[in-house]
Amino acid sequence: MLTLCCLQPLQGSSRNEQLLRTWEFRAGHDLTATQGWQTVTVPHDWAIYGPFSRDNDLQEVAVTQNGETVASVKTGRTGGLPYVGKGCYRCTIDVEKEGGRRFVLLFDGAMSEAQVFVNDERVCFWPYGYNAFWCDVTDALHDGSNRVAVLLENRPQSSRWYPGAGLFRKVRLLTLPEVHVPVWGTCVTTPYVGRDYATVTLRTQIEGLPDGETVRVETVLRDGGGRAVASKSDLRQINHGMPVEQHFTVEQPQLWSPESPSLYTAESVIYRGDAEADRHTTRFGIRTVELRADKGFFLNGERRKFRGVCLHHDLGPLGAAVNRSAIRRQLTLLRQMGCDAIRTSHNMPAEELVELCDEMGFMLMVEPFDEWDVAKCENGYHRFFDEWAERDMVNMLHHFRNAPSVVMWSIGNEVPTQWTAGGYKVASWLQSICHREDPTRPVTCGMDQFDAVVNNGFAAQLDIAGFNYKPRRYDEAYGKLPQNLILGSETASTVSSRGVYHFPVVQGSNLLHDDHQSSSYDVEHCSWSNIPDEDLAMDDDREWVVGQFVWTGFDYLGEPSPYDTDAWPNHSSLFGIIDLASIPKDRYWLYRSVWNRDETTLHVLPHWNWAGREGEVTPVFVYTSLPSAELFVNGVSQGRRTKCDSTVMHRYRLMWNDVRYEPGELRVVAYDASGVPVAEKRVVTAGKPYALRLEADRTRLAADGEDLAYVRVSVVDREGNPVPTDSRQVRIRVFGAGSFRAMANGDPTSLEPFHLPQMRLFSGQLTALVQSAATGGRIVVEASAPGLRKCRIELSAETVE
Ligand code: GAL
Repeated sequence: MLTLCCLQPLQGSSRNEQLLRTWEFRAGHDLTATQGWQTVTVPHDWAIYGPFSRDNDLQEVAVTQNGETVASVKTGRTGGLPYVGKGCYRCTIDVEKEGGRRFVLLFDGAMSEAQVFVNDERVCFWPYGYNAFWCDVTDALHDGSNRVAVLLENRPQSSRWYPGAGLFRKVRLLTLPEVHVPVWGTCVTTPYVGRDYATVTLRTQIEGLPDGETVRVETVLRDGGGRAVASKSDLRQINHGMPVEQHFTVEQPQLWSPESPSLYTAESVIYRGDAEADRHTTRFGIRTVELRADKGFFLNGERRKFRGVCLHHDLGPLGAAVNRSAIRRQLTLLRQMGCDAIRTSHNMPAEELVELCDEMGFMLMVEPFDEWDVAKCENGYHRFFDEWAERDMVNMLHHFRNAPSVVMWSIGNEVPTQWTAGGYKVASWLQSICHREDPTRPVTCGMDQFDAVVNNGFAAQLDIAGFNYKPRRYDEAYGKLPQNLILGSETASTVSSRGVYHFPVVQGSNLLHDDHQSSSYDVEHCSWSNIPDEDLAMDDDREWVVGQFVWTGFDYLGEPSPYDTDAWPNHSSLFGIIDLASIPKDRYWLYRSVWNRDETTLHVLPHWNWAGREGEVTPVFVYTSLPSAELFVNGVSQGRRTKCDSTVMHRYRLMWNDVRYEPGELRVVAYDASGVPVAEKRVVTAGKPYALRLEADRTRLAADGEDLAYVRVSVVDREGNPVPTDSRQVRIRVFGAGSFRAMANGDPTSLEPFHLPQMRLFSGQLTALVQSAATGGRIVVEASAPGLRKCRIELSAETVE
């Protein structure tokens, strides 16, 4: 019995969009198998359920871009999860073939090498797992019930990180009238933007009409409140498949920006004669982006520097399966840090991310590739580049060109092609595809081979040169390259584990510790990278540096540097400013102290539970937006520190390097520029673990079966002080109108599966994800652990209209 995934009736001949959520999944490619099918909800990631194993995608390679010349065993490089292999999905769809309707299957991504079948006929193939693609399947369908199947295959050594596996983004069936606007068939530009008025151009592709026929397009532009702000009704002849072009003037436009993400819609009705043929709505924003030599990047005429982070696509314990509410959680935390930009490294983002960036106000640099024609991974994208790169680019550009959040395209990341003699030609070709399909946005490329790209013409021809980890060479690049602007396309790669501190505190690269963690004093990095302070300084000191994208906003699955050789059980990154459990590390407050200009930051590290280290040197760092602070240990002043230029670290951190540990209290009093004490923070030595504490990021969820609450679980002593060293196992139970979805503790060495409701705390904390049911009601979340008082909190799932 196949799963029927579309139940909604079609409405007349108008366009209709149905989410294909319920599928049957089976490992392998045998669609005729009668056993082994599992009903799943798409987005689905077949590999995230594990188990973790050292043998999953075990690689013996020399990672040349990391400077390695000799092959070595790499465990956990792609997350230690079973993503390699074949899988297939099937469902049935019911259609009524009448009136010349067209039927399109639209995949937001399928990992990977997707072959799509309708009634056993192969209707399309799309190799790149991250890209959205669509196929018109009308001719393979018949009236009534039809079989749809998708075969996927992930080869070993096809990625440098965890790519996920399966139909990990949404799939839709579109029913289109005979005369229709095709997928991604509109293009909105804003040729003139002023505070008094803006001009808007809408180009609408129309298909299903013979050349020379005439259509009428009635379009209304509406602002975010639904108010009509402009309209046009135009009679146009279709010539050679050219789109219908309409021009509008919007008086006193509300410009899109991170601080004020105003959106508009263009609602079009297409008439053939007097009959309505199709309706189509495009969301867009009004804003300008501009690069000015020597001066920087300008949004709406105002200079700003990207306070950006790079993000991989996985959502930690959810794997690659897209969930809008998980992405919203990520963006919310980043926003509170003062971040205003995201680089989608190194692949096409989920549509949900782009939509949320439009709505919440984040600038996006969208980047499709990690390799071009020259391999980084044996089975990587280079196998498809020559045949598919242009098609992949065009899909990406058409998909996202109307999103105001997208302010820049990056054509690739550290591609080995940058070294080659003809590499500049490939870069120039990819850049020209961007310019052809979207003349409104600048193009960059994340480059790491400084000498090669500065000397071989590769960097000079880009709209703006993006350098990965080269703050010490920005001045040189600025002098040698013609653009007179530099982007920190990827910065820092500082590594740390939440709540883990190593002594003595040593700044350095590739430091390895017996516990397989990196110190949270934020002084450890890779051989090719540096501490955050260096990049912050370049942003502050050079007008022509347009800002940066830190590697990375969140920890991700795979690439467990510096434990990236045979260092199992490490299998997730330590680069994140925020860990895999969505809990900020100390570094979060360092960036916040510089980037968040609206709120005061005052953060103290390390924790103060160091039984056994009495009398030993235990440095104390303070990350604050204020210029100076005084530290007291058990009431005794350790002196006042003021930010200064003596070293780059002294510019951004206040440090007391000689503090000797004694249990009790750290108290920090911070002063403003005129010396007035304006903020205070205490960190105390916690007593014996006493109870669990639960804190949810949201208490009211939408009853849609997908919404998530992130519930922080921590251990506290009798006075309610967090116990930062506890690692006991916690069990979660969820009752009522919700269910346990997944959990994570942020420990890059933890082999506990994310989908089971018990897990050990890491540095005294973990996060449980609770999902709403499709019906409203109370949700009770209960956490218990041996020896501690249990804790319950109540959430609610509320019916959405
Ligand atoms: C960069 C690369 C990223 C990531 C990072 C880790 O060179 O572009 O994808 O691997 O290093 O430091």
